[in-house]
Amino acid sequence: MTKAQTKIEIGGSREWLDSTLDKLKLKMSAECARIGGSIPYIPVNGRYADWGKRDIYWWTNGFWPGMLWQMHQATGEIAYRDTAEQVEERLDEALHGFDGLHHDVGFMWLHTAVANYRLTGNVRSRTRGLHAANILAGRYNPAGQFLRAWNDEGSHNRAGWMIVDCLMNVPLLYWASDETQDPRYRDIAIRHVDTVLRTTLRADGSSNHIVILDPNDGTVLDKPGGQGFAEGSSWSRGQAWALYGMALSHRHTQKAGYLDAAKRIAHYFIANAALTEYLPLADFRAPEEPVVYDTTAAACAACGLLEIAEAVEEHERRLYVEAAIRMLRAAEQRFANWAPDEDGILGGGTVAYFSEEREVPIIYGDYFFIEGVLRLSGQSAHLW
Ligand code: GLY
Repeated sequence: MTKAQTKIEIGGSREWLDSTLDKLKLKMSAECARIGGSIPYIPVNGRYADWGKRDIYWWTNGFWPGMLWQMHQATGEIAYRDTAEQVEERLDEALHGFDGLHHDVGFMWLHTAVANYRLTGNVRSRTRGLHAANILAGRYNPAGQFLRAWNDEGSHNRAGWMIVDCLMNVPLLYWASDETQDPRYRDIAIRHVDTVLRTTLRADGSSNHIVILDPNDGTVLDKPGGQGFAEGSSWSRGQAWALYGMALSHRHTQKAGYLDAAKRIAHYFIANAALTEYLPLADFRAPEEPVVYDTTAAACAACGLLEIAEAVEEHERRLYVEAAIRMLRAAEQRFANWAPDEDGILGGGTVAYFSEEREVPIIYGDYFFIEGVLRLSGQSAHLW
């Protein structure tokens, strides 16, 4: 389903946006030449290693090509397209290897193969995208009506595990139904999203990270803490996945309940981010000390807010656009590294509240920052 981008009024932020776009073009041009078909994740001493050599199945392996496709769309430069295609081909090892695959096939192939097909019509890429969609559909549990998250770890069976992050993967299923005119993929997506609405989102607009269901009948068994501070807390990237994920499901289904949910999560997110000058904490319900930010949550939430802005009437739009700009600006001003000879754009990303990788540049933070900035300038590609 394609849809013209709504023109966004950015008011007094035009100067910031123009100068950020100029810096982004310089930085991405240098990174593209230096990184090429290598697969970046987190830089060490200003340099990315090739994460694809370490783990070709890693869930973030599609974000670098996603950044390249966004830049290709915005600038028309061929080098971005050619480099994104190199990574897409490398990921065939994972697509055909299968065993290490998981629910994050959407993150991996929406930004590689499906992006390529959408932007160039490449039919080999379409096949890869449909292959990935079938793998995701194969993780559907009809008894519990949910998409299974992670694989088993050792003897630890995770057949009933569902995580909020997966909302960002279901657009692969909507795309597959649009592409094949076969409703099965969309039906699975909707049933999963409805289970998330019922079991994972909380009444105050926040979300659990993990919900464990009985895989035989879908009964809720447990809601443990995940990448946030503790059980019942509020991991901010999880809130951002919920916000943007619900907004995307609304985009693909036009179901009013999904937009209502996205707005509820957005209002919760904005209220909490406002307490820390629009730089979200890694967990909104963590103790006051230590202060740990997560700019990846800011950038992803900003894209979700801009998606909501496209879905609402003009008189409602300003709240979402203004909050998105505040988060992107706050993250950029405090944490951006525009030096073209160093890898990584947006510092301040946090893998998990208790992770060693706190307030560092992470590739998905850069992806969402680029998408957000290009959305504001009306130059983004729709890759979801
Ligand atoms: N989807 C895993 C994460 O957000 O860290």
